[in-house]
Amino acid sequence: MAEQFDVVVIGGGPAGYHAAIRAAQLGMKVACVDAALGKDGKPALGGTCLRVGCIPSKALLDSSRQFWNMHHIFGEHGIGFDKPKIDVGTMIGRKDKIVKQFTGGIAALFKANKVAAYYGFGQLQPGNVVTVKQHDGSTVELKGTNVILAAGSDSIELPFAKFGEHIVDNVGALDFDKVPKRLGVIGAGVIGLELGSVWNRLGSQVTILEALPTFLAAADAEVSKVAAREFKKQGLDIRLGAKVGKTEIKKDGVHVTYTDAKGEQTIVVDKLLVCVGRRAATKGLLAEGTGVKLDARGMIEVDAHCHTGVDGVWAVGDCVRGPMLAHKGFEEGIAVAELIAGLPGHVDFETIPWVIYTEPELAWVGKTEEQLKAEGVPYKAGSFPFAAVGRAVAMAEPAGFVKVLAHAESDRVLGMHLVGANVSELVHEGVLAMEFKGSADDLARICHAHPSLSEAVHDAAMAVHKRAIHKA
Ligand code: NAI
Repeated sequence: MAEQFDVVVIGGGPAGYHAAIRAAQLGMKVACVDAALGKDGKPALGGTCLRVGCIPSKALLDSSRQFWNMHHIFGEHGIGFDKPKIDVGTMIGRKDKIVKQFTGGIAALFKANKVAAYYGFGQLQPGNVVTVKQHDGSTVELKGTNVILAAGSDSIELPFAKFGEHIVDNVGALDFDKVPKRLGVIGAGVIGLELGSVWNRLGSQVTILEALPTFLAAADAEVSKVAAREFKKQGLDIRLGAKVGKTEIKKDGVHVTYTDAKGEQTIVVDKLLVCVGRRAATKGLLAEGTGVKLDARGMIEVDAHCHTGVDGVWAVGDCVRGPMLAHKGFEEGIAVAELIAGLPGHVDFETIPWVIYTEPELAWVGKTEEQLKAEGVPYKAGSFPFAAVGRAVAMAEPAGFVKVLAHAESDRVLGMHLVGANVSELVHEGVLAMEFKGSADDLARICHAHPSLSEAVHDAAMAVHKRAIHKA
C-alpha cells in the first residue's frame, strides 16, 4: 500500500530540495526521494551542486586562489615568505568537510520542515505513484497528489574518451590526489575554465581544447576578450577550433588527438578532464505509461509553468529546458510549490544571472550587445574599467570592466556585463535594475559607497549618458 503525500519530489538537488521545503512551509505533506551517496558511502542530499559542483568547486577555487596570490600578488603588498607549498590532501579534505556540512544541512532542513526523506532511486509510475528502490534493496511506494521531477543532469561522456582513472569529469577533477603535471581539458565552458583554473593555479600545465572557433560565445564579446587575455597571462593554453577525435591511454599519459586549422595534432597529458556539457538525468526515471514526454535530448517536456501536461506532474531544474544553473532550479522549485498551493509562482528567465568563478570573475544578466544588434533593438552602452576604481586598484585587482546596456529611447536596462573582481556579487545590481524595470539613469542616480567595487556599476550607468565623472 503506497503512503499518501500531497507532494512527492524526485531529486534532492537545488531544484528538488527548494520545492520540497517550500511545499512543506506551505503546509503540505511532502516526501523527497534521492539516490545519491556521499564520498563516505552514506546518503547525501543537495545534488550535483552541493556534492560535486558549485560548492566543492568554489572551495577549491578559493584554496587555489590563496596559493596563486601568495606567488603573484602578495609581493606587491610587500609580503614575502619562503616558497609556499600546497598540501593537496588537506585542500581536498577541507573541500569534503564543506560538502558534508552543506549536504548534512539539507537533511537538517528536511527534518525541521518535516519533509520525509527517502534514500534510493525513484521512478514515476502511472497514476502519480513513485517507487523507491532503497539502498538496502527494499522498495517502497509513495503516492503524490502532486509529483515534482527534479532529477538533475549528468556529464556527457564522449565515445572516444570514456571516464576512468585518467579521463575524468567534474567529479574526478575535484578529487585529484596530487597536482597533475599536465592537465588536458576538452571544452572551454564553465566547468573547463573553473576547474582548469584551479589546477593551473596549483602548478599544472593546462591545455584546453575547444571545438568552437569563438571563445565563450555566450558571453559579451568584450567580456570574453578581456577574460581570454587574463587567462592567457595566467598560463592557461586555450586552443580554439580544436576538434578532438581520439584519446589513447599509454604509459606516458593520455594521448589526445585533435584537428584544428593547422591539421591533426596530439597532446600528451597526465589527466584529461572532459566537460562538454551535461544532459538531463532522465534514464530510468519514467516507467511505461506515465504520459510524461521526453524531448530528443532526453529532457522532460514542460510548459512555461513547469507542468508536464500530466495531471499533478511537474518537472524543474536541469532535467527541463533552460540554463542548467542551480539558481534557476531553486526558483523553479519554489515557483512550482507555490503554484501547487494556488499562489502565483513564476520564474523570470530574462533576469537569470550567469557567473563564471574564474579570476577575474565573469558575470552577466540580460542581453549582450550582439543579441541586441541581431534583434534590431536600439540601445546605448556605457562601460567603466576597474583600473579607474580606487578600491579595485587598492586590492591589486584592476583587470576588467562593467558595461551597462540600456534601451536607446526608454533608457530601460537591457543587460549588464561584467568581468573583474567580485563581479559575481555586483551583477545583482543589474538583476535588480532589470526586475524593477529600472533605467540606466536610475542606477546612475543611486548613491554608491566610496570606495567600493560597485562604483564601476554606477560609473558605467553614468557613462550610458556620457557623464561618467572619472572617465577622460
Ligand atoms: P558548457 O556548455 O558550459 O561548455 C561546454 C563547452 O564544450 C562548450 O564551449 C562547447 O563548445 C565545448 N565542446 C562541446 N563538445 C566538444 C568537443 N567534442 N570538443 C571540444 N569542445 C567541445 O558545459 P560544461 O562546462 O560541461 O558545464 C555543464 C553545465 O554546468 C553548464 O550548463 C553550466 O552552466 C553548468 N555549470 C555552471 C557553473 C556556474 O554557473 N558557475 C559551474 C559549472 C557548471
